[in-house]
Amino acid sequence: MKTILVGGQFGDEGKGKVASYLAISDNPEVVARGGVGPNAGHTVQFDGKKYGLRMLPCGINNPKSKIMIGAGVAVDPEVLAREVELTGTKGRVFVDKRCTVITKEYKEADAGSALCEKIGTTKTGCGPAITARAARSAKLAQEFPELKQFITDVPAAVNKAKDVLIEGSQGFMLSVLYGTYPFVTSKDVSASTIAADVGLGPTNIDHVVMIIKAYTTRVGNGPFKDEISVEEAKELGFQEYGTVTGRPRRTSKDLHWDDLRLAAMINGATQIALTKLDVRFAGNASVREYAKLTAESKKFIERIEKELSVPVTLIGTGPDAKDIIDRRKEVL
Ligand code: GTP
Ligand code: IMP
Ligand code: MG
Repeated sequence: MKTILVGGQFGDEGKGKVASYLAISDNPEVVARGGVGPNAGHTVQFDGKKYGLRMLPCGINNPKSKIMIGAGVAVDPEVLAREVELTGTKGRVFVDKRCTVITKEYKEADAGSALCEKIGTTKTGCGPAITARAARSAKLAQEFPELKQFITDVPAAVNKAKDVLIEGSQGFMLSVLYGTYPFVTSKDVSASTIAADVGLGPTNIDHVVMIIKAYTTRVGNGPFKDEISVEEAKELGFQEYGTVTGRPRRTSKDLHWDDLRLAAMINGATQIALTKLDVRFAGNASVREYAKLTAESKKFIERIEKELSVPVTLIGTGPDAKDIIDRRKEVL
């Protein structure tokens, strides 16, 4: 089974949590990452430890899985080395030989750019690296001695493996093609691009799981419907802070239904993973059976299924990877 996980909103939907659950429950041979690069920030919590990951995929928690970074991802060798060390994953982390490498120059260019001022980039060098790749002036992973130990052919590995979990990064509304342009990231981040990032053809994907959070947040500048103040967000328990930048996230208390319909269509979503149901509705904390959810939250889930015509198969009810209701056997 080849499954792609993508964000359906502005990133930070809780991919970390869903991916680490799937990495254990589905036991994939390979967990591979697509998307932009270390601009992503994923919080992964397991066995009582909490990691903020930017470079590695989130599904690192199954020691049997090989961890791969696809050709489409821009790699920062320093961030990679730090995360491999921190997570104790040395020996099972691999980087495609064709990845664009982020150098100090790209990071400096990002931080000092007019674009950073205008749209609030993450200053991680991702935008300049992706731009250099398009300008055919970037250097590739295979040219860097410090990456030699990680280099592999990711497309060969993911096409050969039977069970693969593929993680996207960012979210649909940050796609350079379909998001709130120009307040977007430097690449398309929909499922088709994520598949290409790791070297899988469109006919080789079995499932696309689109993750949505029970309310909407966004980091950085740009249009954002029905925005509420930090005070209101705090009162509702929705206020969040960025994993990479530490910036307070902007909050909108409901889902943006039109955007989500478009996201489900263009991603070709076959399943929805809904996170933070417990944060949006009281009485659902750590619930692990669908029947035990409150009536109000079940109604909300039914509305999502009706609006998007996609089943909600995974439901997050708490921060731990195990705080999840998995309905895949019942509804697929
Ligand atoms: P991605 O960028 O999509 O990977 O999301 P993220 O990991 O950046 O989100 P964030 O950094 O905001 O971290 C999410 C936090 O919320 C982590 O501490 C998770 O453990 C936690 N979390 C994830 N899903 C749920 C959920 O369903 N309920 C609750 N209460 N917490 C959750
Ligand atoms: P860049 O990707 O660093 O160029 O930043 C462009 C925009 O995308 C900024 O508004 C960032 O805050 C946003 N962005 C990039 N990656 C993420 C992410 O993983 N989560 C949320 N926002 C992101
Ligand atoms: Mg994030």
